[in-house]
Amino acid sequence: MTSLIRSRIIGTGSYTAEGVLTNRDLERMVDTSNDWIVERTGIRERRVAGKNVLTSDMAAHALRQAVEMAGIGPDDLDMIVCGTVTPDRPLPATAAYVQRKIGAAKNCPSFDIAAACSGFIYGMAIADGFIRTGTAKRVGVVGVELLSRILDFKDRNTCVLFGDGAGAVVLAADESGSGLLSTHLFTDGSLTELLTIPAGGSAMPASEATVADRLHYVHMEGKEVFRFAVRYLSSAAMLALETNGAGPDDVNVVVAHQANMRILDGVSKRVGIPLDRFVLNIERFGNTSSASIPIALDEAVRGGRVNGGDMVLMMALGGGLSWGSALARW
Ligand code: COA
Repeated sequence: MTSLIRSRIIGTGSYTAEGVLTNRDLERMVDTSNDWIVERTGIRERRVAGKNVLTSDMAAHALRQAVEMAGIGPDDLDMIVCGTVTPDRPLPATAAYVQRKIGAAKNCPSFDIAAACSGFIYGMAIADGFIRTGTAKRVGVVGVELLSRILDFKDRNTCVLFGDGAGAVVLAADESGSGLLSTHLFTDGSLTELLTIPAGGSAMPASEATVADRLHYVHMEGKEVFRFAVRYLSSAAMLALETNGAGPDDVNVVVAHQANMRILDGVSKRVGIPLDRFVLNIERFGNTSSASIPIALDEAVRGGRVNGGDMVLMMALGGGLSWGSALARW
């Protein structure tokens, strides 16, 4: 008799950059206030990586920790998937640098996913597909962002929101019945312009004019994104539950993308899961995009908040717009 293969998270890790940028620091840089930022977003401080730190350094640190917790070696990984919008370079994939830095096997396929803040959920869903079909047994999935290098510190609409960091998991084939129960991914390409870096790609290659016009930085229609975020995060969460015949009361821990405290509050109310079951660290790290879920998950796991048998709900939304959810039995 063959039992169902699922992918189970057997290790988590994270890297939170050492530099702390507080709301008070930002008050000296743009026309904003600590009160506004706290009230409108829930963020008090965020981390900024040092000048010599690369995205791949942060990713490698987080993945090394996850591999260690999993009790395996880096060369036991069959694949490395990196969700990031801040790669070391446009070419090659940051995951290739990560492979080298952690000492994974040289032929281990390693690639990046560009799904913005949903990058980690997308990465897990892809890894899950490879594991379920038996193509891979152990996959390292990383969410990593060095957003401070693509933020316009003259634009108060964006620079107060984001931070740097990395988180990672090791997913492994498992036949015990635990693991990822489902993943759901969505993209609405009619909403591409809500969150974009206009220049630096093939549509608008770097030129003196694009640099002068500050088009290499993140541009966002925050209010619009907010509206979709509450609606789509909630619908993705409810779909995850419905697919598995579960209800809000069955969920022990929610690890949702940390974009805005008011978004999380809205989702909590819509889905019917009290906020005290949500892992919340936005106050300390801000929005770290694809790194946000795996950092929060790592904190929850190491802090003993997630226990065997728990139902863990994860969901994210970001540029694209892209969004998705994953439900796991721990
Ligand atoms: N400090 C002070 N005032 C600010 C500010 C800041 N950092 N940023 C914007 N404002 C101002 C605006 O200019 C606006 O002023 P106006 O009314 O004179 O035009 C006012 O505050 C209200 O702006 P608004 O955009 O309506 O605020 P908001 O309540 O929607 O909050 C965000 C703005 C960005 C915090 C919120 O919309 C948000 O979190 N959106 C989602 C962002 C997100 O999650 N993005 C990533 C997805 S992964």
